[in-house]
Amino acid sequence: MASNWTPDSWKAKEARHLPSYPDAAALGRVTHQLESFPPLVFAGEARALKRDLAEVAAGKGFLLQGGDCAESFAEFHPNNIRDTFRVLLQMAVVMTFASKQPVVKVGRMAGQFAKPRSSPVEVQDGIELPSYLGDNINGIDFTPESRIPDPERLMRAYSQSAATLNLLRAFANGGYANLRQVHQWTLDFMGRSPWAARFAEVSTRIGEALDFMEACGIDPATVPQLQGTSFFTSHEALHLPYEQVMTRRDSLTGDWYDTSAHMLWIGDRTRFEGSAHVEFLRGVGNPIGFKCGPSLKPEELLRQLDVLNPGREAGRITLIARFGDDKVEAGLPPLVRAVTREGHPVVWSCDPMHGNVVKAESGFKTRPFDRILREVRGFFAVHRAEGTHAGGIHIEMTGQDVTECVGGAVAISDSALADRYHTHCDPRLNAAQSLELAFLLAEMLNLEAQDRGKAAA
Ligand code: PEP
Ligand code: CO
Repeated sequence: MASNWTPDSWKAKEARHLPSYPDAAALGRVTHQLESFPPLVFAGEARALKRDLAEVAAGKGFLLQGGDCAESFAEFHPNNIRDTFRVLLQMAVVMTFASKQPVVKVGRMAGQFAKPRSSPVEVQDGIELPSYLGDNINGIDFTPESRIPDPERLMRAYSQSAATLNLLRAFANGGYANLRQVHQWTLDFMGRSPWAARFAEVSTRIGEALDFMEACGIDPATVPQLQGTSFFTSHEALHLPYEQVMTRRDSLTGDWYDTSAHMLWIGDRTRFEGSAHVEFLRGVGNPIGFKCGPSLKPEELLRQLDVLNPGREAGRITLIARFGDDKVEAGLPPLVRAVTREGHPVVWSCDPMHGNVVKAESGFKTRPFDRILREVRGFFAVHRAEGTHAGGIHIEMTGQDVTECVGGAVAISDSALADRYHTHCDPRLNAAQSLELAFLLAEMLNLEAQDRGKAAA
């Protein structure tokens, strides 16, 4: 267990990007109540995810982490949860097939509300108001009342997270995640995709593999593993008063776990040395993500790894690189070399979203699909050159047919962004773009698998 740590020891450190509530007593009442509410996840589940991630760190698996930039009260609907879950499963099947390795599935779901913003204020038509900070803090409407942080929103976010998680568990274990079914959805998608020819080989081979298995008697009816899957949740542990009261002592081990999600990550803006967010997360037993952006120096990263994972436990740390397509190939190698030299067992994951935001001529914030893809390719190229494992992908996506990122097979143009631009924060890949990314990733994973095969021969 971490020394000199308590669930509230973060309060003595510098905390950036936390809301200031006009009524501190009201916040106290809400957090006090939440403290007695049931945990959302069980410590044993977080340990199971850590074991899976330890395999990834050892080069024997791949992490797929994805979901909304910011979940919202307005988009809370069973169909949205179902569709995002479904696309993540489809992506995972394609990637498992290509990599010949298990894919660990983690949603940015069931708790991903609070957002760090680049500016504390937003100006529209000469009027300045506090920025929107996520539905668990204030409202997105551009009115003075809506932008006041309201602690009651934490209650609603907790309840939405619980209901979302409940449905995800039901889908994962209740028969919805049947492998045959997942592949059938992918075939349906192929029927509509302009890039179908490019993806046909992989999807045909997956179908043949399933046919072969079935002929051997290995099918969802006889092998329960093919009917269900494991699925984990994650979010940025930004709102520390909430995370603190969701942190409980595990009755089996006596260790502290943040029970608001299986995995928590520290954002690029709150991962600085001495930060309240690093202090908080160093004391919980969950797997931890750590965003690595262009300003992170190798020596600082090593010091932070010593703080967050002094026991060098494999699966504990996932380093999520988010450089931008033009910076990843120069910026990532010094970090990879330092971590490898010091022998820290980490998962390297690629977030090709947060370094690639541009403002379109139409005024919308967007991310060009080509740039996302270029960053992923750059990430894989760096790991190939360094002889390390490109271990994961972290994306903002939805199962809905939104128009938020430009490009893709059904090339979304700048002028089409206005059609279905629904995100509460950053632009997300839509269902088709997400699957396209999975097929393109499959090509890179396949190369890695071939390298492994050659090394083993
Ligand atoms: C995010 O993942 O939503 C985010 C804000 O990312 P970053 O901290 O890398 O900017
Ligand atoms: Co985002």
